[in-house]
Amino acid sequence: MSNIVTVIAPVNIAVIKYWGKRDEKLILPLNDSVSATFDTSVMCAKTSVSTHPDFVEDQIWLNGKEESFSNPRLQNCLREIKSRAVAEKTITEDVLSWKVHVSSENNFPTAAGLASSAAGYACLVSALAKLYKIKSDVSSIARLGSGSACRSVYGGFVRWHAGSKPDGSDSIATQIADSNHWPEMRVLVLVVGNTQKKVSSTVGMKISSETSELLKHRIQHCVPQRTEEIIEAIKNKDFSKFAEITMKDSNQFHAICLDSYPPIVYMTDISHSIVDLIHKYNDLSGETKVAYTFDAGSNACLYLLKHDVPKVISLIKYAFPSTSPENFITGLSVAKEEINTDILSKLCIEPMGMDMIKYIIHTKIGEGPTEIDSHLLDSNGLPI
Ligand code: DP6
Repeated sequence: MSNIVTVIAPVNIAVIKYWGKRDEKLILPLNDSVSATFDTSVMCAKTSVSTHPDFVEDQIWLNGKEESFSNPRLQNCLREIKSRAVAEKTITEDVLSWKVHVSSENNFPTAAGLASSAAGYACLVSALAKLYKIKSDVSSIARLGSGSACRSVYGGFVRWHAGSKPDGSDSIATQIADSNHWPEMRVLVLVVGNTQKKVSSTVGMKISSETSELLKHRIQHCVPQRTEEIIEAIKNKDFSKFAEITMKDSNQFHAICLDSYPPIVYMTDISHSIVDLIHKYNDLSGETKVAYTFDAGSNACLYLLKHDVPKVISLIKYAFPSTSPENFITGLSVAKEEINTDILSKLCIEPMGMDMIKYIIHTKIGEGPTEIDSHLLDSNGLPI
């Protein structure tokens, strides 16, 4: 067998948020969620996995630094992959007894609300699945690493079905539409801060599930209808409907965070000024041209269509000036556009202080995990 496999895997950002678990251990959600998967050429996790009879213990390196393999989520993923390999009879018993080495890195800030655990676990599980020649859907295994990771196993637009079975076998991700379905869709990730977030998603959603009345209302009365509606909007490429549901769901998720006891606050004043700017811009445009959504952090993720990108970027540059404008935008290139003074005077906005938005990542919808042949482990199974 080939004893080293390397995979790159995408980030996904939810438009219908996952927030709350019905089973903590199996990571089973209380509600369905929907996300878009981003292009790995701009943001990705990269993971190499290797197995060899000479390896003495399971070892993992994250961004070059050795970390403990005893993390239960990591253990669960490896155990489930191995038991799937047994069930599918893909690997002999002796190979399964060999230890594994893992080396993984992200090319974007970790734990800043940028879905790094989703990309990381989707990458790990996809790489292990290839190493052990597993053919079946592995989204339910990625889910054991981090709930949202199950959605990064597919490209395009993805739904994670909450499922109802106690063993979680129906809590899987499926693709709504592939990465070519809506080629005009673009994403701007506005990096507000790259510091570690205060309350992890895992802890935050536990507090919300235990204390928020609004969370119960959302799961029963809002998510089922919104999920169906946004899937329709995606299928019909109805941007304004897609955008409206995305913004309302983000706002409701952060309202649940505030409704939790003690309250959890992820958005900052800068996040709220981004929200204001987008609403003003949409009002002035006479249609919903941009949607914002915020995860468990202060960074904004904007969904918009390709032809609106230059205008929106010039507006953000005006409203959130940068001391290094040449490095302000990374990712896909953007046609230069001068700020429209007419729009500015109608928007009535004053520029904020310098560097409130650190930089922007410009990306688009992309494919799921992909195998590549530039490895992070050498032939002895050690990080390169
Ligand atoms: C706000 O998947 O990070 O990003 O399952 O406990 O690992 P665990 O949580 P995680 O939660 C993500 C929450 C969110 C919304 C979303 O991605 O749907």
